[in-house]
Amino acid sequence: MSKQPLIVVWPYTPSDMAILEQTYDVHRLWEASDKASFLRQVGPGVCAIATDGEHGVDAATMDLLPDLELIACYGVGVDAIDLAHARRRNIRVTHTPDVLTEDVADMAIGLLLACARRIPQCDGYVRQGCWPGGGPGLTTRVWGKRLGILGLGRVGRAVARRAEAFQLDVAYYDRCRFDDVPYRHFDDLATLAAEVDFLVICASADHGTTGLVGGRVLDALGQDGMLINVARGAIVDEPVLLRYLRERRIAGAALDVLEKEPPDEDDPIYRLPNVICFPHIGTATVETRRAMREFAVENLLAVLSGNRPLAPVNPEVLQAV
Ligand code: 8YV
Repeated sequence: MSKQPLIVVWPYTPSDMAILEQTYDVHRLWEASDKASFLRQVGPGVCAIATDGEHGVDAATMDLLPDLELIACYGVGVDAIDLAHARRRNIRVTHTPDVLTEDVADMAIGLLLACARRIPQCDGYVRQGCWPGGGPGLTTRVWGKRLGILGLGRVGRAVARRAEAFQLDVAYYDRCRFDDVPYRHFDDLATLAAEVDFLVICASADHGTTGLVGGRVLDALGQDGMLINVARGAIVDEPVLLRYLRERRIAGAALDVLEKEPPDEDDPIYRLPNVICFPHIGTATVETRRAMREFAVENLLAVLSGNRPLAPVNPEVLQAV
């Protein structure tokens, strides 16, 4: 019996690729120099495509796949997928929530500590031989301060749980107020920012959050405030953030995500001493990446064998686009 075709946008680990290849006739989109003609050639008859959070699937790609029924995303964030077009085309979208939550929350706390206590800068100070000349200067205390969380979803809640151990006073901004948490809710992000020392972005990028953190929020966060982002670069107005960092209108930022990843070689971000930049690695542990890949593959196997997917993208999210 011939195998069903499957397009893979970007490679999964070799072991997961091997699983896919055992079951499907895998077409490797990332290897094609002319992707459109590749899709025109192999596209008809393909009913599933596997992608990840960074590469997504755009409308043009979907339209070169007339029989597409499923987009399986390796990652929880589906903002790189044209969801409105998927909905119009009646294409199902799956993702990998839950398995990555705790790792991303660990990274948020790590970045918060790194930013406030200047951990990477202190390491650089020792390595560059500066220690004999004296200490690197004082840093900012974390425990006992006030923490604002933008988006109290799975990751936001996991950050809040960790923050309690640091005796941080947690408050949050979210479109919804949740009655099952003890944290103070704000329905205006700038008002929350004015009340906290650290603002951590944990929201998904959508029509309601894109560009949400701009001048008004950063003014409210103030000169001693710090911004942490483990969600998506698009939630921050990045040129404004860089200007505020340069002019010391906020104290610092620690970013695991950027609008353009990786940034261009001449991006001003490389020259700012008060920003810590990580290469989008919130979920990048061996354990979590394995779980994400397995989850993405299970979603695929379920749908392609005629069963319900384990993790369809929430229909409310699809309705909202
Ligand atoms: C990436 C992420 O998807 O889950 C998400 O939304 O941003 C990450 O886990 C991951 O790097 C896979 O590309």
